[in-house]
Amino acid sequence: MDDRFNTIAGWALFSGVVALGLSSLSSHYFQADKPHRPHTMGFEIEGVVSSEGGAKEVPIETLLASADPAKGAAVFKKCTSCHTDNQGGANGIGPNLYGVVGEAIASPHRSFAFSDALKGVGGNWDFTKLNDWLHNPKKFAPGTKMTFAGLSNAEDRANLIVYLNTQGSNVPLPAAPAADAAAAPSGEASAAASGAPAAGASEAAAAASGEPAKK
Ligand code: HEC
Repeated sequence: MDDRFNTIAGWALFSGVVALGLSSLSSHYFQADKPHRPHTMGFEIEGVVSSEGGAKEVPIETLLASADPAKGAAVFKKCTSCHTDNQGGANGIGPNLYGVVGEAIASPHRSFAFSDALKGVGGNWDFTKLNDWLHNPKKFAPGTKMTFAGLSNAEDRANLIVYLNTQGSNVPLPAAPAADAAAAPSGEASAAASGAPAAGASEAAAAASGEPAKK
């Protein structure tokens, strides 16, 4: 009787140990208890342009051609905590910006203590450089003291640059590349030209320019 009990208890104990061992072994082996992520997240699909990337592909020249300085004046409100743009306006946290379009980057005539980062860039504020700068100041001039995150919307930047150009610069706008004007459906293009929201046209252009991306 005793013997039988011990045998049964022994087997019960033994199978418990085996079960425990197996479960810990399998969880270890399959890492079922640890959520693990694949080494590369997702995968690239060729020929697909994200809206971010697509917006970037519309050349700034195209956006400038349909930009609206009145809308740019509204965008400039994001800058007025640090900048004035009137003739003879005072420097604030940032320099006065009157006539900045086409002018030398970090020009000494502004009597502003520019960072070495911006002084080191060299050249003039042409439309492309202003566009890159306002998109991401820290990327354009790493170490700049302009603590402004940047404007992610390309149309906002185009409107703003065209507005800034009216503040003492009046540099002729660059010609829009012909290929893109042709790529936009005529209805959309004329809407953009007449100053209507250019979103449709630029999206169409982005889609059109995105298509040949497949290799
Ligand atoms: C938080 C304050 C701040 C804001 C907001 C800001 N800026 Fe600036 N900006 C600066 C400072 C500071 C500098 C000088 C940067 C340096 O020396 O590195 C500067 C420099 C510039 C320059 C270069 C001027 C030159 O003569 O080379 C331009 C152009 C400019 N800002 C445009 C803008 C525009 C347009 C906006 C709004 C979209 C804006 N900034 C928003 C602080 C600011």
